[in-house]
Amino acid sequence: MRVAVTRRLFEAQIDRLRERYEVVTWDSDLPPSPSELVELLSGADGALTLLTDRIDGDLLDKLPDLRVVSNLAVGFDNIDVPAATERSVAVCTTPDVLTDATAEFTLALIFAAARQVVAGERAARDGDWHTWYPMRFLGIDLKGARLGIIGLGRIGARTAELAQALGMQVAYYDPGTEDERFERQSLEDLLSQSDIISLHTPLLDSTRGLIDRDRIRLMRDDAILINTARGPIIDTDALVEALQQGKFRAVALDVTDPEPLPSDHALYGFDNVIITPHIASATEATRLEMARLAVDNIIAVLEGGDPPNCLNPEVLDRG
Ligand code: DGY
Repeated sequence: MRVAVTRRLFEAQIDRLRERYEVVTWDSDLPPSPSELVELLSGADGALTLLTDRIDGDLLDKLPDLRVVSNLAVGFDNIDVPAATERSVAVCTTPDVLTDATAEFTLALIFAAARQVVAGERAARDGDWHTWYPMRFLGIDLKGARLGIIGLGRIGARTAELAQALGMQVAYYDPGTEDERFERQSLEDLLSQSDIISLHTPLLDSTRGLIDRDRIRLMRDDAILINTARGPIIDTDALVEALQQGKFRAVALDVTDPEPLPSDHALYGFDNVIITPHIASATEATRLEMARLAVDNIIAVLEGGDPPNCLNPEVLDRG
């Protein structure tokens, strides 16, 4: 059997595939173009994909041998899962192993945004540090601050726990979840009352553009907005407009729309905006576990076993 891997990854994990299958890899840190992706995946029984690879019905129609798409991510908005199910292709993901790393990075952005870490570092580096300033680089205390979590899944809940340990008052909006440890709020109340709002929903039709002009208007002018989920959950134009009008104490984005964000994008023009290149799960141990799990998923599907994380188990051939 043949397995295609769409990016450079931990060799020891690719070797586990090589021991069993013919393996082709895309040996670059940059993604293959759509046509290069078709070429790379053609004839493959299994594909280890990244969130930057668009897997839809048109592509799958060109890949009749494909039995499993194993995405190196908990998110799967790059994959048309119903189209895969229709074509009996299993879709697998890597949840859980990245929960702590992603929640910890969310906290890193909260700290950075609340305490002007990036602006202070930039000033020091740029020669703009002349004395001890009693009135510059002032931030807010996290102890006692209200954190509003939108989406209390695994990562949202872990972020909430960490924030609570810091003495933050944590509220959440999530129509599908009940968690007595935190205050449940309507979206409107959460948006209008939170000092810090952190997004943790998957990207779905229902969450695309969730943070639009009207909802931004509900937020306090001195709110901090954090996004470690998916860029398109925020309407980027509305965000830029609000920043131009002086809204927000700070905004910290690990994910953007578009992604990557072009280097001349308006968002880079604001001193109170922090942008990182989608690295919330990027610890050595976490990325290794994600790769291990992605490989486990492929092997299980191709060997007729039970993959650890399959989104459409109804297509599995366990014979
Ligand atoms: C995911 O897993 O969906 C993240 O965005 C990358 O770790």
